[in-house]
Amino acid sequence: MGVSGRVAVVTGAASGQGRATSLRLAGEGALVAALDVDAGGLASLVDEISDTGVRCRGLEVDVSDAGAVAAAFAEIEADLGRAYVLAAAAAIYPPGVLSHLRDPDETARIFDVNLMGVVHCASAATRQMIEEGRGGRIILWSSIGAGAVIAGHAAYCAGKAGIEGLGRALAAELGPYGITVNTIAPGAIDTPMLSDTPPDPAYYEVLPAGRAGAPEEVAHLVSYLCSDASGFMTGAVLALDGGLSGVNGAVRPDV
Ligand SMILES: NC(=O)c1ccc[n+]([C@@H]2O[C@H](COP(=O)([O-])OP(=O)(O)OC[C@H]3O[C@@H](n4cnc5c(N)ncnc54)[C@H](O)[C@@H]3O)[C@@H](O)[C@H]2O)c1
Repeated sequence: MGVSGRVAVVTGAASGQGRATSLRLAGEGALVAALDVDAGGLASLVDEISDTGVRCRGLEVDVSDAGAVAAAFAEIEADLGRAYVLAAAAAIYPPGVLSHLRDPDETARIFDVNLMGVVHCASAATRQMIEEGRGGRIILWSSIGAGAVIAGHAAYCAGKAGIEGLGRALAAELGPYGITVNTIAPGAIDTPMLSDTPPDPAYYEVLPAGRAGAPEEVAHLVSYLCSDASGFMTGAVLALDGGLSGVNGAVRPDV
């Protein structure tokens, strides 16, 4: 059965990896509830999916707002049904600023969106999954920044490290309900987030893959994690980074 006919809630759905995930899951017959703050991006996603004859609902929601998230999940349940999938991609990556110089309010905002936003969505989604009693699939987005240094992005890195801990703890708590929780830790992926803050060209020189990933490559992994075949995989942190996490600073041999 997979995701066909089931409700998939995707956050950060208006752009990049969330958008590719929404299109992928809709292509597999999921009823996609697309959450984002970007109304225009949501409208074009909903049009694109609706044109294929699959139902999709766009909800303009700031995931850091617990009340708005709860209201959105209530609306999703009433309109499409209870969530089976939560793919929580929404995040912000403000320009690099040394942490002792970054405005504390901006630091708090990064944690509110990137960490608490995921907590609010996971909390609302798991209530519905447990009530429905048919298990579920939760996919979280970390980053190579959780395990490697990205100077100037301390709050982003700390938030993403928090996501990895959250994912492992949720996997343990939700296993008895047949809900799996896995975290993807992408490297550079070709989305607006990357084009706004491009890495140094030297990054690609040491990267075994030698290029950025495509959002569709991430969506392919999400599709597997949502499938019935992935039931034994939970609590995992999956690097999808073109080999960066194995390089350890060594230069790619010129062979
Ligand atoms: N692109 C990369 O190189 C890269 C690398 C590592 C990790 N990531 C992670 O991948 C995930 C997806 O990012 P992306 O590359 O698709 O970036 P993106 O900027 O294309 O998409 C992020 C989406 O999140 C939305 N968003 C931002 N704040 C929000 C809020 N408060 N409420 C709801 N929606 C909000 C944005 O409007 C946007 O549509 C993020 O968690 C990001 O941290 C990205």
